[in-house]
Amino acid sequence: VVRPLTDGFGRVHTDLRVSLTDRCNLRCTYCMPAEGLDWLPRAEVLSDDEVVRLVRIAVRRLGITTVRLTGGEPLLRRVLPALVGRIVELGAEVAITTNGIGLARTAEALRAAGLHRVNVSLDTLRPERYAALTRRDRIADVLAGLAAARAAGLAPVKVNAVPVRGVNDDELVELVEFAVRHGYRMRFIESMPLDAQGAWDRARMVTADEILARLGERFDLRPAGRAGNAPSEEWRIAGTDAVVGVIASVTRPFCGGCDRVRLTADGQLRNCLFATEESDLRALLRGGADDDRVEEAWRATIARKGRGHAIGDADFVRPARPMSAIGG
Ligand code: GTP
Ligand code: 5AD
Ligand code: SF4
Repeated sequence: VVRPLTDGFGRVHTDLRVSLTDRCNLRCTYCMPAEGLDWLPRAEVLSDDEVVRLVRIAVRRLGITTVRLTGGEPLLRRVLPALVGRIVELGAEVAITTNGIGLARTAEALRAAGLHRVNVSLDTLRPERYAALTRRDRIADVLAGLAAARAAGLAPVKVNAVPVRGVNDDELVELVEFAVRHGYRMRFIESMPLDAQGAWDRARMVTADEILARLGERFDLRPAGRAGNAPSEEWRIAGTDAVVGVIASVTRPFCGGCDRVRLTADGQLRNCLFATEESDLRALLRGGADDDRVEEAWRATIARKGRGHAIGDADFVRPARPMSAIGG
């Protein structure tokens, strides 16, 4: 039997989020500057073999059961279906969070490799607005990617949107109607202070209560709970089987039930999205450490996990890296 990956608060970790690259083909204004960031040098990014070795240790020795591939934009990773297949073979359920560009081309191969689910980011349905928000005129690719994911059987396809005041916060009802019409599951996310520019401002953030109030003007929403420890609170539209999710990371933190651990594209283990320290698993791998050593480092990192993020508190410290480099 596998000894669970437990922290000092008794939280058991079964979910691993792996960032496969810090690069992205969009430049969402709430995420990074127009010129992009100083990307990691290729040599610092874990190879497929290194990723697979770490996931194998996580699954076989630490009790990880679900693996989510993120970025940056994970579809920028070369031959992704092959990597997905190798992770699926280890026995994990594998999902991906993507901006959807390139998904039309790869959805079928990802499904064939055993991918379970996909979450696609789409903050607006209006092409000009999409181009302004992401600084790239690519909405057609995203819509095609969504349709391809559904056609490939990657159900349920979830759509993630971050409402930004004065940018897309007038479009929440339309986004839900779009998702319901196409059989996707819409979710709204409170923005967090993880942008590269450091421009996040709590007073400007669109809160979960505001999101629900706006949706409530159009839909009769019934609370439908939360799936296990998932960040998303679910609401069912009365009289239908459509579900809308709200991820209230800031105003209703879910750290108390956190079951997540994260690996960055350069092989740093983080016990929290907001952790201020990382543990260098890449150095262990490249220094010839055996699996026992890696397992030990992993457990020690989780043992040091804090109670949760302190966004809004006087002593809150932003992590040194932005979300695109940590993994979404
Ligand atoms: P499923 O519910 O399994 O579909 O996935 P998910 O919602 O965990 O994954 P996704 O990558 O779609 O994440 C959606 C958003 O949830 C992210 O963009 C974050 O804003 C938020 N989120 C995910 N993990 C964490 C976390 O550990 N802490 C906090 N505060 N927010 C998180
Ligand atoms: N706060 C909350 N969500 C964010 N995302 C990107 N930056 C932030 C932020 N600062 C979202 C993206 C995508 C998911 C991976 O994370 O819109 O849906
Ligand atoms: Fe890329 Fe995601 Fe950042 Fe947008 S939010 S620029 S899609 S990493």
